[in-house]
Amino acid sequence: MRKQIIIGNWKMYKTNSEALNFIKEVDSKIVKNSNLIAGIGVPFTALSDAKKAAKNLVIAAENVHFEKEGAYTGEISIPMLKDLNVEYVIIGHSERREMFNETDETVNKKALALLANNMIPVLCCGESLEIFEAKKTKEWVENQITKGFNQISAADAKKVVIAYEPIWAIGTGKVATPEIAQEICKIVREKIASLYNQDVANEILIQYGGSVKPENIKEILNQADIDGALVGGASLIPDSYLGLVNFK
Ligand code: 13P
Repeated sequence: MRKQIIIGNWKMYKTNSEALNFIKEVDSKIVKNSNLIAGIGVPFTALSDAKKAAKNLVIAAENVHFEKEGAYTGEISIPMLKDLNVEYVIIGHSERREMFNETDETVNKKALALLANNMIPVLCCGESLEIFEAKKTKEWVENQITKGFNQISAADAKKVVIAYEPIWAIGTGKVATPEIAQEICKIVREKIASLYNQDVANEILIQYGGSVKPENIKEILNQADIDGALVGGASLIPDSYLGLVNFK
């Protein structure tokens, strides 16, 4: 049976002090459950202290550079994250693709570099409203997955967490219906089966993201091919976050 994985993505919210207050309030209230990974992606400035403060919460980074080091002003490297014992890193979020020139190629380089360092990429994919309305979601997402997984071995592919986030459902309050979310997550899993094999497809964790809240998470996670959620807005407030991860 696959585990479930719920990760908050704080984006550019919360100072280090605010992050620490949140963790102080939330961490001890995470119900221990070996089948659930409960995490938050925090801004770089909060990573070090958040990692030290969190006992139950998994602390993720929201981005990383694929090069080990170099003249890349403003970037953060994998060794920098490893030194803080960060394990999970969100890559290829649509906001980074749309606003910061992230491409399938850079996402792939980041995934390869993270896996080579025994870290776990949370690889985001998802289509715009235009593509959704043109009924081209399947081809779009399959292409993102094919390119994102380029040269990744089957053994490593299993470790990747895929987050399917339709752009039209992010921060809009417009959640994809559980049926749509399931349909696309199934397409993603089938694509992984065709790129690798059924074993990899059965093991890989696939999240849905886009206006997930405590009120709708249960129905979303009840879908056969959805193993978790990547949550923006609703992960910022302690009670709401706890409502997400203690949803049962
Ligand atoms: P919202 O949950 O605020 O729609 O954001 C989703 C998201 O982008 C998570 O990465």
